[in-house]
Amino acid sequence: MKPWIKKYQPKELSDIQGQDTAVKQLKESIANFKKTKKATLLYGPTGSGKTATAHALANGLDLEIIEVNASDTRNKEEIENLVGSAATQMSLFNKGKIILLDEIDGLSGKKDRGGISAITKVIEKSAFPIILTANDPWDSKFSTLRKKANLIQFHTLNYLSVLAVLKRICINESVKYDESTLKSMARMAGGDLRGAINDLQMISQDKKTLLKEDLDQTSQRNKTQSMISALMKIFKTMDPQIALTAFDDVEEDTNKRFLWLDENIPKEYTKPKDLAIAYNYLSKADVFHGRIRRWQHWRFLSHINALLTAGVALSKDEKYKEFIKYAPTKRILKLWRANMTYQKRKAIAIKIAEKTHTSLKETTKNIPYIQAIFKKNKQMADEITTEFELDPQEVDWLKK
Ligand SMILES: Nc1ncnc2c1ncn2[C@@H]1O[C@H](COP(=O)(O)OP(=O)(O)OP(=O)(O)O)[C@@H](O)[C@H]1O
Ligand SMILES: [Mg+2]
Repeated sequence: MKPWIKKYQPKELSDIQGQDTAVKQLKESIANFKKTKKATLLYGPTGSGKTATAHALANGLDLEIIEVNASDTRNKEEIENLVGSAATQMSLFNKGKIILLDEIDGLSGKKDRGGISAITKVIEKSAFPIILTANDPWDSKFSTLRKKANLIQFHTLNYLSVLAVLKRICINESVKYDESTLKSMARMAGGDLRGAINDLQMISQDKKTLLKEDLDQTSQRNKTQSMISALMKIFKTMDPQIALTAFDDVEEDTNKRFLWLDENIPKEYTKPKDLAIAYNYLSKADVFHGRIRRWQHWRFLSHINALLTAGVALSKDEKYKEFIKYAPTKRILKLWRANMTYQKRKAIAIKIAEKTHTSLKETTKNIPYIQAIFKKNKQMADEITTEFELDPQEVDWLKK
């Protein structure tokens, strides 16, 4: 089963959707690489076509592509080994070459590891154009590198571009869809075409149809996925800077974040001391949360985030090595059930209060006695049911 993102990978630059300006700038940058800068840094959100564009360019110009995924390499030796020699030697097949250093975000700027300085050196030596990709090039560790490269922005794909690609795939794979469902799917992608194509494949590859209800599941799955990654970030780091960004891609609101943390902290942190500190931060965050709710002090939001992320992350002395399956909270469900119970009780109490001319408060207090009657005395229960016109669900509730 071939992934559709591979099967429908753009072959030529003309296949790249919705990034016309970037594509044009890239062509110019590569054409002039000897005159101006040898390196081009493509940056922008995930799934917007950076890597695909580099490949399409090489393919269209019939260039050999030397690719290193920088997120797999650890240090400068590795980068020098992988691309250092390729950058200066002619291609075996006498083709032109292009060097792609993909996903440099994670590289270290520190002297000892020096991944970024190794790249800078490769750029200086290289006889071929170099394409770099990153999501966020504005980190200070890239300041030298930024000067050595032409920066080209890939913007978040709009839903029409996403829609166009999804449609083409549906037609080609004979997947039945209706326009509005596919549109919602394209909107839900938030500009991440890779994600959208993967979702489409998962949903419709076997069934050959795309149904509206599939979308709800997908969006729930995506939300859960991003929440789980966020928890992973918080629990498995000791670095406050990393932890602080954990919720950046999470759509769920502060309430949900609380509940997820509340549910999973005891799964991850098993030492009582760590647990106590983590819950202390959680409760401090809750204090700020209350102030926002009561007084609309929105500036407390950043405190809440810091306490929930960096606070919880630093509650431990050392990382726990076990792999934990983080689970969604059951709390919401419990609250809902409690709420339903409360509603039933209230509905029954209202009926009784009206007929007996008693206050609602007084009647509510007496409901447990009525429950006892329903458990023990069938005849009396029947009489009460008739007298107060209780419906079958209310009777069930009283019997529980
Ligand atoms: N603009 C686009 N036009 C056509 N197809 C695209 C475009 N963007 C993404 N795709 C499709 O999505 C897949 C993933 O895109 P790509 O790997 O280029 O994203 P990226 O920008 O490099 O993301 P990341 O930052 O996560 O590495 C591609 O293989 C291609 O099938
Ligand atoms: Mg990429």
